[in-house]
Amino acid sequence: MDKPINEEIASRRTFAIISHPDAGKTTITEKLLYFGGAIRDTGTVKGRKSGKFATSDWMEIEKQRGISVTSSVMQFDYDGKRVNILDTPGHEDFSEDTYRTLMAVDAAVMMVDVGRGIEPQTIKLFKVCRMRGIPIFTFINKMDRQGKEPLDLMEELEEVLGIESYAMNWPIGMGKEFLGIYDRFNNRIEQVRVKDEERFLELNEEGGLLKPHPMMETSYYKQAMEEVQLQNVAGNDFDEDRIAKGELTPVFFGSALTSFGVQTFLETFLKFAPEPQPRITKDKVEIDPYSKEFSGFIFKIQANMNPAHRDRIAFVRIVSGKFERGMTVSVPRISRTFKLTQTTQFLADDREIVDEAVAGDIIGIHDTGNYQIGDTIIGGKSSFVFDALPQFTPELFVRVTAKNVMKSKHFHKGILQLVQEGAIQYYRTLHTEEVLLGAVGQLQFEVFEHRMKNEYNVEVRMEHLGAKVARWIENESDVSESMAGQRAMLVKDRHEKLVFLFENEFSMRWFHDKHPSINLYNLL
Ligand code: G4P
Repeated sequence: MDKPINEEIASRRTFAIISHPDAGKTTITEKLLYFGGAIRDTGTVKGRKSGKFATSDWMEIEKQRGISVTSSVMQFDYDGKRVNILDTPGHEDFSEDTYRTLMAVDAAVMMVDVGRGIEPQTIKLFKVCRMRGIPIFTFINKMDRQGKEPLDLMEELEEVLGIESYAMNWPIGMGKEFLGIYDRFNNRIEQVRVKDEERFLELNEEGGLLKPHPMMETSYYKQAMEEVQLQNVAGNDFDEDRIAKGELTPVFFGSALTSFGVQTFLETFLKFAPEPQPRITKDKVEIDPYSKEFSGFIFKIQANMNPAHRDRIAFVRIVSGKFERGMTVSVPRISRTFKLTQTTQFLADDREIVDEAVAGDIIGIHDTGNYQIGDTIIGGKSSFVFDALPQFTPELFVRVTAKNVMKSKHFHKGILQLVQEGAIQYYRTLHTEEVLLGAVGQLQFEVFEHRMKNEYNVEVRMEHLGAKVARWIENESDVSESMAGQRAMLVKDRHEKLVFLFENEFSMRWFHDKHPSINLYNLL
């Protein structure tokens, strides 16, 4: 590292891109990496179609289904900033890892397809970002295609997500008639399909073109000007503080596929995206990224990156200080120390050994089964624990048994480890002690089944119970088992807390009307 450590930390920008599948997350990620010089050609990230990503055997599932099971981390430098993009699996079968990745970032970019608007998975991921109060930048993609009216989309953001918005730029036309964007922030027009030297048209203080230009004669330009004018008068003001708190989302229009608006987006985003933010400990102490002592937390554990060894990689978000390879760290949960010699950093689909990293960065540390998701690791003498990562309300459930009852010991050991790792959630029925598993995405069950077979040598039988509405109970002592029934299963979670699994929202409301004194709540 060439710069003093404080400058290194200040240069970090760590974010995730959230979206519904097919909105263009992979495409924009590639473009960002391309502008950052991390890849020479686009079309190389994840190798979705080239099948390049088969780095472990259980990722066979991923290969077959053409999706990314695990979130990876990509790093590049741009304009003096070191950018870390944490990828979030974009298929419908996304898992809790996707949510937990959002615990490790300081900002999010929300991709929206201009034709589809706000979609279900975007809403789910948005809620997690909102809960954390991190800044959210919106990129409305595929402007080279006909889509919804920009003003309607702005309204949709406010109505569906409940976030106020400020358009950083405004499209001039759309689809085949997409002429460019009116860049309110930089006070210029960026043109599509022109030679590089004609790309930007400067504007005067009132936002009109300095010199006459054929664009001015088009109805698209006139309409864009009117709409921008409308927003100048009636829209939200640009407010950096509110952006930082995640109350106001800056909105950019563009087209990832044709690269249009992407570089301007990147540059503007990097101006406002926050540097590494402090984290709170369980005792409500704020750990400053610039404090000398190295600290971090594990937000994800990935097994079998290398099929030749059955080991795992724990992903650490560095919260403070500097990591140096070979350093000794402590893990307060188990009161043990470890020397960190095998560590990886991530660059597109390559991994390389990392010698140094600072607050804001993500490193992978080699794990032989000692770490758990949520663990705090500390490089100095302090002993504190970061606030626990949230547990997410599962939506899908299975009843699981070992095919061979003789394997019961391995079965329970495997489940215990995979539950601790955060791969799946554990529940059990009250008297019959049947094991139920909960997940936020179907894929988690498939990965579970595969890993039980390959790592614990146990074949499992899974009976799908389908989607359930899980609710925890504030006043457990008021619950009696007679309240449970076919449409409201009563189970315990791994912390021995009672949970109702309702058949659907309707049965939950019915239960609530019948037992108004029982206070139900859900996790995130
Ligand atoms: P995802 O990671 O969010 O799931 O989306 P991805 O980038 O894979 O994009 C989904 C599809 O949308 C791809 O088309 C991609 O080329 C297209 N796309 C992305 N950005 C734009 C854009 O700005 N304009 C237009 N017109 N299309 C865009 P595909 O046919 O599914 O795949 P491919 O054969 O093009 O790779």
